[in-house]
Amino acid sequence: MADKLGIALVGCGFMGRRHILGYSSLKKAGMLDATIVALMDINGEVAEKVALEAEELLGHKPNVYTSLDALLADPDVQAIDIVTEPKTHHNIANTAMNAGRHVLCEKPLALTVKTGMSMVDCAKKNGVVLATAENYRRGGQNRLAKAVIDSGILGKIHLMTEFWAGGDDKVIISKWRHMKNTGAIGMDMSIHYADIIEYMMGPVEHVSGRGIIAEPIRYAKDGSDPVIPDGEDSLFASMRTKAGADVLFSYLPSGPGKHYRMRVVHGKNGSVEIPGDRSDGDIFVHLEGRTLKNEEITKELGSKFALSPVTKAVLGPDGTGGKGAAWADVDSGYLAVEMHDFIEAVLTKRPPEVDGMGGMRALAVVLAILESGVTGKTVSVDEILAHTVHSYQDSIDLELEK
Ligand SMILES: NC(=O)c1ccc[n+]([C@@H]2O[C@H](COP(=O)([O-])OP(=O)(O)OC[C@H]3O[C@@H](n4cnc5c(N)ncnc54)[C@H](O)[C@@H]3O)[C@@H](O)[C@H]2O)c1
Repeated sequence: MADKLGIALVGCGFMGRRHILGYSSLKKAGMLDATIVALMDINGEVAEKVALEAEELLGHKPNVYTSLDALLADPDVQAIDIVTEPKTHHNIANTAMNAGRHVLCEKPLALTVKTGMSMVDCAKKNGVVLATAENYRRGGQNRLAKAVIDSGILGKIHLMTEFWAGGDDKVIISKWRHMKNTGAIGMDMSIHYADIIEYMMGPVEHVSGRGIIAEPIRYAKDGSDPVIPDGEDSLFASMRTKAGADVLFSYLPSGPGKHYRMRVVHGKNGSVEIPGDRSDGDIFVHLEGRTLKNEEITKELGSKFALSPVTKAVLGPDGTGGKGAAWADVDSGYLAVEMHDFIEAVLTKRPPEVDGMGGMRALAVVLAILESGVTGKTVSVDEILAHTVHSYQDSIDLELEK
């Protein structure tokens, strides 16, 4: 590999701080081929605070900026890591890519096909790397499940159930996560699951579904004014993949009491049961007359499964962080794997695991659910990507153009 990559973090809020922990996890493993040279946030106070945390964790204090122009005037900044609110992603990314910088951008890549495709086109035009920060797939159990499916031991794959339900009427993390034009939580979370669905099952062909607002009032935990959401908090869909399998999907952060989650892929010869993302849960393969668990599955797959050296370095031999590991350590491990992939992609001039189109496909699956809800029809992911179905997105695009 060439010299270390100079990276600037743009956005120092809830997730921006976690990105610093991701870089720190890579550094601890001796695998950080980058220097965090700068931080930028329109809120100078939070940027300064995160710069001090970065100094403690990474051994030097990054330069702090409050404007993108000033940041991009810094010649040490070769790449930026965008961790701002989704409505800002396309403008920040395109400005940086037009200035010759590589970009790692948090999910959702953008809020609409128009804005997202402008990023993909901009990366191509400037010959820079555009990667989508998609962390869930990086965990050991999801990597193993994918290898199980690809190995053929389940036979012909018929069905995936990706089910998440349970929650309350509290604001989820931040108020912007409840409004359509800023990226409501239904989209924000379903993007992760859309990425997992395509990762395990291959491209989705078409979708029938809808989004709803399950909680019409969301109350702030800090006692501040409640939020009246105008963006969907919940998405439900039935999908068909290009390979001919079906997917049943739900994300419903409402309904107090028990929280349900299930990720199971069924084939003709058996099923794989996958635990929660960033959990230390067990993974099972159920076959006729026998059930395999964790390392028994790894043994069965033999040379058909291998974790990358960076995954083992930050998350242990099975890529899960180990039994009883602190959530924050597992989270930063997943992020470290994602960041390592981006850095290596830039330094070795190869595509990242989840590039701009990868982020666009997950977005298109989610938008297909929302557009299907508006039209009452089945919608194909290709139609969404070609921007021939866009009624749901029009008001967002209008707002973003202001
Ligand atoms: N992958 C994951 O697990 C995960 C988890 C949480 C959030 N996220 C994603 O991370 C992103 C940020 O989420 P968050 O929870 O940190 O939001 P946040 O609201 O806590 O923080 C956003 C930060 O961006 C700053 N900001 C806003 N506009 C800016 C601009 N134009 N230039 C520079 N800074 C700007 C804000 O001042 C704030 O500090 C979102 O895309 C979200 O979906 C991903």
